[in-house]
Amino acid sequence: MELSALAIRVARTPGLGMLPQVTSQVLRLVDNPNASPRQIGALIERDAGLASKLLKSANSAYYGAPGKIKTVSQAISVMGLSAVRSVVVGQAYQQMTSVRGASKRFDRLAFWQHSLATATAARVLAKLKGWRDPEEAFLAGLLHDAGRLVIDRFLPNELDQILNLSVERVIPLRDAEREVLGYTHVEVGDLLGEQWNLPEGMRTPLRRHHEDVSYDECPLGCLIHAANVLAHQAGFALGAPVLYELPPVVKQSLGIPDAQYEGLKQAIVQEVVRVQEALRI
Ligand SMILES: [Fe+2]
Ligand SMILES: [Fe+2]
Repeated sequence: MELSALAIRVARTPGLGMLPQVTSQVLRLVDNPNASPRQIGALIERDAGLASKLLKSANSAYYGAPGKIKTVSQAISVMGLSAVRSVVVGQAYQQMTSVRGASKRFDRLAFWQHSLATATAARVLAKLKGWRDPEEAFLAGLLHDAGRLVIDRFLPNELDQILNLSVERVIPLRDAEREVLGYTHVEVGDLLGEQWNLPEGMRTPLRRHHEDVSYDECPLGCLIHAANVLAHQAGFALGAPVLYELPPVVKQSLGIPDAQYEGLKQAIVQEVVRVQEALRI
């Protein structure tokens, strides 16, 4: 299927079993400087599952007041809007990845873990670099490969072919995608970004997450590129066991000493466990 035909199918499937309405409304409100935490709380309370997940997260040991947070608005003030956004989107994303797709070979749990590992790596790197919003980096990391869910949904046979080709020839999934489809999960993911009304500040880095971009040129794109490589190296891989390395441009512009990367990968594994617990996966 041509990318333009896929774009039409994505546009004509508004739900896509994906970001539920409350989630996209919360996303829009969090990005709106005029929105109050109270408005956001009221919206979240309309979704009982989401509200209870948020309360569980706010009451986790991470925020230092276990068992004391009783209302959604308290949860928002303890966690901060950015962390609330991560939980809201994390929960929606978890639901998306647990929907049965059509491919026989696509490992949805591994996909979810890879996304979460990249998200947590992006947050750790963002904090190390002093990036203005580490939760934004988390979100971008979580969504970076979302195009694969669309491929699973609309092109399951092609996805099986892609996975076979990647393993047979020991090539990255992305190369196999280009060979089978003529495009990759990056372009497909951008169709979702459009449907979800993601801000351009998020869509550009997502489009560039496999490019060799420096931190100065595209901070979030560079962070996601590095986070994806680290997630692979930490064992949260997809497709064939290809060796992923940080490109010189990414590595130099991040300026993190080599010795720090091992500890960083351990921190990623620990963070994945912690976030999985917070989201009760
Ligand atoms: Fe990717
Ligand atoms: Fe990835």
